[in-house]
Amino acid sequence: MSEFKPQIFSGVQPTGNLHLGNYLGALRKFVALQEQMDCIYCVVDLHSITAQLVHDDLKSQTRSITAAYLASGIDPVKHIVFNQSAVPQHAELAWIFNCVARIGWMNRMTQFKDKAGKDRENASLGLLAYPSLMAADILVYRATHVPVGDDQKQHLELTRDIAMKFNLDFAKKIKEIGKGVDITVGDQPVHAFFPMVEPLIEGPAPRVMSLKDGSKKMSKSDPSDLSRINLTDDAETVARKIRKAKTDPDALPSEVDGLKGRPEADNLVGIFAALSDRTKADVLTEYGGQQFSQFKPALAELAVNVLSPVNAEMRRLIDDPAHIDAVLKDGSERAGAIAEKTMKDVHEIVGLL
Ligand code: TYM
Repeated sequence: MSEFKPQIFSGVQPTGNLHLGNYLGALRKFVALQEQMDCIYCVVDLHSITAQLVHDDLKSQTRSITAAYLASGIDPVKHIVFNQSAVPQHAELAWIFNCVARIGWMNRMTQFKDKAGKDRENASLGLLAYPSLMAADILVYRATHVPVGDDQKQHLELTRDIAMKFNLDFAKKIKEIGKGVDITVGDQPVHAFFPMVEPLIEGPAPRVMSLKDGSKKMSKSDPSDLSRINLTDDAETVARKIRKAKTDPDALPSEVDGLKGRPEADNLVGIFAALSDRTKADVLTEYGGQQFSQFKPALAELAVNVLSPVNAEMRRLIDDPAHIDAVLKDGSERAGAIAEKTMKDVHEIVGLL
């Protein structure tokens, strides 16, 4: 093998409602990438029990994320859509990665620090080891590219660290089994079993901010529902939330530089650009000089036009759980076949009899 086969992998947790940040940072990119590479999209249910163990409705949340994938335009026949727990090799490789990764690496993760809060001793061991499982999700398919929002960047850097340490620690064995690939990392030639994944974060809205505070990320856990647009919001709610979004009193600038120091304006222009597949510069060429009283109705109309069909299709799919379960079953079988092959080699490399 002279090169890793280009392969996309990404995942979304089935916790809470999906919002515009998930849609623009992840789903919309997932859809676009289908034209370029083979894609595997996962509903990462094992991740959702790291912060909160007991959920009333984990199964229906898993189906609802699957519905969002399909409603956004992901093709589960040409590509693979499945739920993580149905392919046990994720958890198996995560165990091996727990023995590769260092506790110090995990302790540095900002998401762990945020989620564990002040009482770190009382956080679950799963929450600390979360990035190991995330690395396993990706690397069990030896995926090369991972589309995510900006908040996942640090986890992907850790995925690279884990892959690199595994490749170096087992260099001799990887050569022996003849399944490695010669790559260069920095200036260093490495005979690698696992690729160095490339995060795909770029675009006009890599981090969609709260509609109520431009310094905070739009998130499922924000207590104010007005801070986010949920994929399940109806048209009137979407328009109302945009009307009520925080702004400043100035008109929109004509150039991107003019958005500096204006986080709310920057956020709304980024959302407009991402929803219409344009650049921020292009949006400002059209709307520069206008007041928010003119820009917001245009943004609301755009958001409703893009999100309404997704919303309607999601509702239709959620009413047909048998179809969703069939999609997941088929995807899990196809994903499982790839993961099984990787784990056979990993057993050989690590020396598991
Ligand atoms: P999760 O479920 O929190 O979020 C799913 C995706 O949505 C992106 N995202 C955002 N993008 C832009 N602006 C925002 N405000 C915003 N909020 C969320 C996230 O970056 C993510 O791409 N650890 C991951 C799930 C995961 C995963 C993986 C991802 C598990 N294994 C392997 C990729 C590859 C997470 O918690 O995402």
